[in-house]
This record gives sequence, structure tokens and C-alpha cells, in this order.
Amino acid sequence: MTDPCRVLLVCGSLRSKSTNAAVLRTAQRVAPQRVAATVYEGLGTLPHFNPDDDVEPLPPAVAKLRAAIRRADALCFSTPEYAGALPGAFKNLLDWTIGDDQRGSIYEKPVAWINTSPRGAAEAHRSLRIVLGYAHARVVDSACAAIPVRTADIGDDGLITDPTIRVAIANVLAQLAETAAG
Ligand code: FNR
Repeated sequence: MTDPCRVLLVCGSLRSKSTNAAVLRTAQRVAPQRVAATVYEGLGTLPHFNPDDDVEPLPPAVAKLRAAIRRADALCFSTPEYAGALPGAFKNLLDWTIGDDQRGSIYEKPVAWINTSPRGAAEAHRSLRIVLGYAHARVVDSACAAIPVRTADIGDDGLITDPTIRVAIANVLAQLAETAAG
């Protein structure tokens, strides 16, 4: 039996009732058997990106982020759009990924995203693609999906119950894992 594909799920929202976070929590639950999905929880702990601080010893939260990325075979993002762009906290996280020159960093790592916005959030996702290009991540287009989610889709347990949405989320992970394995 081959090892499961380790996918790190990274949310761009800090909001406690975030729809994007709900999608990623659900992704962890519905992941296909060959996928081990983990939610990254440290977004709010990262310091503001400053190249002066991108030296050893790294700020502990940055070291944890980079270690989590290196442990993963692939990354899956889900982010809102704020004012026609990526949320600042999430762009900050992405900025911290770029300077990691160690093996297993975001460089050439397979990545995908779930766009949960019923309004499209086109600018945020255009920007996400550009930033990931600078990071030299490998965007898996066949895995990226628009899966509109409303607050009403989130149950009291913080998970999405709609079976169609759950299948769509599971498909993203399946596609991503297939590419990562290939
Ligand atoms: C937004 N929202 C938003 N949506 C959008 O499609 N384009 C935009 O430019 C913005 N701008 C924006 C600014 C601010 C300050 C807020 C608070 C919200 C809506 C936002 O993306 C939406 O509520 C998402 O559902 C938030 O994601 P989470 O927190 O539910 O994951």
C-alpha cells in the first residue's frame, strides 16, 4: 500500500465563522482514503512579513508554517476576496513562503484552491495565481474548483452537510492527490 498524499489546507480568512474555513474543515472530513488532509491553524500568529526577519532563527510561527508546508505533498487554499484583492493576512502568509529555499518548500509543490465565493472573487483568485507563480508553486488547474458556499450551508458543527458540496470538495483533493502522486 502506498503512503497517503499529505495535503495541507490553508484558509485565507481569520473570521471565526468563515465559510472558507468551514470548507477546509469539511475537506479534512471528506478526504478520500488515499489523502491525509490537515488544516493549518496558524494564520493569525504570523508576524508581518519583513525580509530582515527572514533569517535564522526564524520567528517561531514562520518556522512552524514552513515545516507544515515541507511535511505536505500538496497544498489546498481557500480564501475570500477583500476589496478586490487577497486578504492581507493571507498575502502575508504567502510572502513568508517565498524565501524558503529548503527542500520541500512551496517551490514546485502542487497547489490548488477552492473558490467558495458566490460572487466569484475573481480578482483575489487572479492575484492568488500571480503570487503562486512568484513562489514557483505548481498550480494544478484540474483540481482548482469554484464551489459556492453560503453561511446557511454551514451546520452547527461548523461543517458543510450538503452532499453535492461535499463530493465537490472531495474531488478537489482527489485530483490534487492524483497529480501530486504522478
Ligand atoms: C468583503 N467581501 C468581498 N467579496 C467579494 O467578492 N469581493 C470583494 O472585494 C469583497 N470585499 C470585502 C471587503 C470586506 C472588508 C469584507 C468584510 C468583505 C465579502 C467576503 O469576501 C465574503 O464575506 C466572504 O465570505 C468572507 O470569507 P469568510 O470569512 O466567510 O471565509
